[in-house]
Amino acid sequence: MSAVAQTDLPGLRRLHRGKVRDTYDLGAELLFVATDRISVFDRVLPTLIPGKGKVLTGLSSYWFDRLGRIIPNHLLSDGTDGWPRALREVGSTLDGRAMIVRRAQRIDYECVVRGYLAGSGWTEYAEHVTLAGEALPPGLREGERLPQPRFTPARKNESGHDENISHKLLNHELGTEVASELERVSIRLYEAGRKHTEARGILLADTKFEFGYVDGSLTLIDEALTPDSSRFWNAEGYRPGQSQPSLDKQPVRDWIANTGWDGVSAPPELPSHVVEATQRRYLDAYRRITGEELEL
Ligand SMILES: Nc1ncnc2c1ncn2[C@@H]1O[C@H](COP(=O)(O)OP(=O)(O)OP(=O)(O)O)[C@@H](O)[C@H]1O
Ligand SMILES: [Mg+2]
Repeated sequence: MSAVAQTDLPGLRRLHRGKVRDTYDLGAELLFVATDRISVFDRVLPTLIPGKGKVLTGLSSYWFDRLGRIIPNHLLSDGTDGWPRALREVGSTLDGRAMIVRRAQRIDYECVVRGYLAGSGWTEYAEHVTLAGEALPPGLREGERLPQPRFTPARKNESGHDENISHKLLNHELGTEVASELERVSIRLYEAGRKHTEARGILLADTKFEFGYVDGSLTLIDEALTPDSSRFWNAEGYRPGQSQPSLDKQPVRDWIANTGWDGVSAPPELPSHVVEATQRRYLDAYRRITGEELEL
């Protein structure tokens, strides 16, 4: 299988090229293609992880199917059957990595839920003993499991760097009714996800959902509970009081940290052993969560 860096589909208008996905206009629908691009620290690397886009697409489909009883989602079709002919002709590039989804009016906030203290959640807690501006018990350590999962929204900014905001500000910007609906649904989705992964030896430290409106109904969009939208930790070896290795991008993070890359200049190419170790981890996460081997 060859890795997919980017797509240029004949006769289709590309709406957006994100860090990972290329999105095309199909009228009321979108074609959503997950490439094999990988980003760390919000920067896309020049090296691809072959099959990563298939892991993201396969896992999102898996979860959309299971979470549908909590909230409707944007997925219409993830196989190439029944697709317009123009799409089937480029089928081999898209196989397993494309979805046709309902186009939503996006709510421009990331709905993050944290079950453990890590990343920017840990940073806020360490400074203020709060999360999203709400008090937490004192004395918690980095990586510690929270008494209850917490909703910590972020505003999506044009620059790509999202900004954590307080509950109070979200209420002010979206109105308390919408804000509390987002919180309620996000926590239910997180809890369903964590119950499932924990039974498979994976801790769901935190995750991010996106929502939008389709025909006036609140709908789960984007991706769901993938290694790119979540922090997955191995339950085995979990030790609060320090930062935990991530199940997927850790080989990349460790290798890059060792090169002394400044985070500003062009990021370096990854050597093949780092690519292989990372690919293995993505495939492993897929297998452990779904119980099936992903065909590349
Ligand atoms: N059903 C949908 N309708 C409209 N937009 C969607 C839908 N599902 C996902 N999106 C948007 O499509 C884009 C997917 O691309 P990708 O995940 O590569 O972006 P990204 O690099 O995460 O950037 P962004 O900062 O825009 O989220 C995201 O901007 C996401 O919000
Ligand atoms: Mg994204």
